[in-house]
Amino acid sequence: MTDQGSARSSEGSGDYDLVVVANRLPVDFSVGADGEVDWQRSPGGLVSALEPVMQENDGAWVGWSGAPELAHEPFEADGMMLVPVTLSASEIRKYYEGFSNDTLWPLYHDVIAPPAYHRQWWEAYRRVNQRFAEAAAAQASRGGVVWVHDYQLQLVPKMLRDLRPDLRIGFFDHIPFPPVELFQQLPWRRSILEGLLGADLVGFQRGGDASNFVRAVRRLTDHPTRGSVVSMDDGDAQGRRVRAAAFPISIDTQRFDDLARNPDVQARAREVRADLGDPDVVMLGVDRLDYTKGIRHRIKAYGEILQDGRIDAEHTTLVQVASPSRENVGAYQELREHVEGLVGRLNGEFGEIGHSAIHYLHHSYPPEEMAALYLAADVMLVTSLRDGMNLVAKEYIAARSDLGGVLVLSEFTGAADELAPGPLLVNPHDIDGMKDTIVAAAHMDPKEKRRRMRRLRRKVMGDDVAKWSKSFLGVLTAMPSRDTHV
Ligand code: F6P
Repeated sequence: MTDQGSARSSEGSGDYDLVVVANRLPVDFSVGADGEVDWQRSPGGLVSALEPVMQENDGAWVGWSGAPELAHEPFEADGMMLVPVTLSASEIRKYYEGFSNDTLWPLYHDVIAPPAYHRQWWEAYRRVNQRFAEAAAAQASRGGVVWVHDYQLQLVPKMLRDLRPDLRIGFFDHIPFPPVELFQQLPWRRSILEGLLGADLVGFQRGGDASNFVRAVRRLTDHPTRGSVVSMDDGDAQGRRVRAAAFPISIDTQRFDDLARNPDVQARAREVRADLGDPDVVMLGVDRLDYTKGIRHRIKAYGEILQDGRIDAEHTTLVQVASPSRENVGAYQELREHVEGLVGRLNGEFGEIGHSAIHYLHHSYPPEEMAALYLAADVMLVTSLRDGMNLVAKEYIAARSDLGGVLVLSEFTGAADELAPGPLLVNPHDIDGMKDTIVAAAHMDPKEKRRRMRRLRRKVMGDDVAKWSKSFLGVLTAMPSRDTHV
C-alpha cells in the first residue's frame, strides 16, 4: 500500500484527541526514491484493539518503524495518522536491545536471565523516551488523551506531563511488574516509578502486577498510597491522584473464531495433520523464541515422556513454532542454540524416515495458518516461566469452536489467573509434574475435553480486545481532570 497522503501533517501539531504511543508503529514501512511511503500492516493484537477507537476518535499513533535511521513525516494509513520516531543504530543497540530487552525484560520476568545494568543504556533509554514524549506532545489536542504502552516507554508519562499538563495520560504495562525485592535491583528504580506516576491511570495485566507497583511506590518513594491510589503533591487534598489497576488484555476473538470456521482453514488443518503423517496426537507450541516461554523445559519434558514410553513416539508429534525475536541480544542467541540442539537430539533419537518427533519451525505465520495449526493440535502447550498474559492461549481457545483440544497452561502466565480452572495448569520448573499433565492431556477423554473447552470459551469469547481498550479508556476519561491550565 502506498501513502494515502500526508495532508494532515501540514496542518500543524496538536490535532489529535487520542494519541497512542508505543515502541513500534502498527505498520512496517519503507520510503521509496520518490519519497513516497510504502507500508504493510504488521500483525499484532494492539492495532486491532485500537484501530476502531482510533478511527472513531481521530487518533494518531506515535512509534518507531523498526529500522535504523528511517525518518518520515506523519502519514495516514487505515484511517490512522502514523507518526514515525527515528532511532539511530546506536540507539537501537542501547535503548531497544540493551536497556529494554537486556535490562528491563529479564528483570521484569523474575530475572530468569540475568539483567545487565549499563549507564550508557540508561542514558539512551532516557533520551529516546524524551523523543517519544515530544512527538506525542506535538500531536495531542488540548485536553486530549494520550495512551502510552509498555516497558520501553516508562519515562514517557512524566516527560509528557511536564510538557503538556493539560493532557489525560494513561499507561499500560503489557509485561509483568516484578515484586519490589527484584525491582529494587534497578539502579534507576526511582526514576522509572516517577516516570510511570506521570500518568493518571497505570494499567497492568494482573491484580498482582498492580499491587507490586504500588508496593514499590510505597517502599521506594515518598508518595503516600491508599489502596491502589497514589497521591502526588505530598498528600495535598487538591493534588493529583494516580490509580493503578488491572486490565487483562485479550485478542480479537471473533477473528480467530471466524478463521477457524472457514472451510479453507479447516481443509488446511486436515492437510497439516496428513503432512505430519496422521499421528494419533499432535502437540503444539507457539512462541516468540524467548527464554521466558519455557520452550526448553517443554521439550525436555516431552523428550522424557517419549523416552519413558508413556506416549507412543511413532504416533505422536510436537510442532514447535518459534518465531524469530530480538536476534541481536546474546541471551536470545544462546537460547536458539540450546533449543535447536535439543530438537536435533530428540529427532535423532526418536525420528524415523517420514516421521519427526518434533517439527521445529523458526518462522512467523499469518493468522490463517495459525488458525489451521490450532485446529490441527490435540494439545496446546503454553509453558512460560513468566508471561504478562500469553495471547496464544486465548487464540487457541477462540479457534476451538469444535470444543476439541486441551490447553496445558503455565501457572506463571497472566492467562492462568483469568482462565483457571479450564486449562490443565502446570509449573514448568516441575518437569515430572509437567510430564504427568502432558500425558493426561494427550489421553483426555473427549467428554472432559469438551467440558473444559466450553468453560474456557465462555470466558474468552466474551472478553475481546476491543472491550479491553474501551474499558481502559473509559476509566481513564472518567477520572477527575485536575489541571487544564497550561
Ligand atoms: O509486550 C511484549 C512485547 O513488547 C509486545 O508488545 C511485542 O509484540 C513483543 O513483545 C515483541 O517485541 P519486539 O517489539 O521486541 O519484537
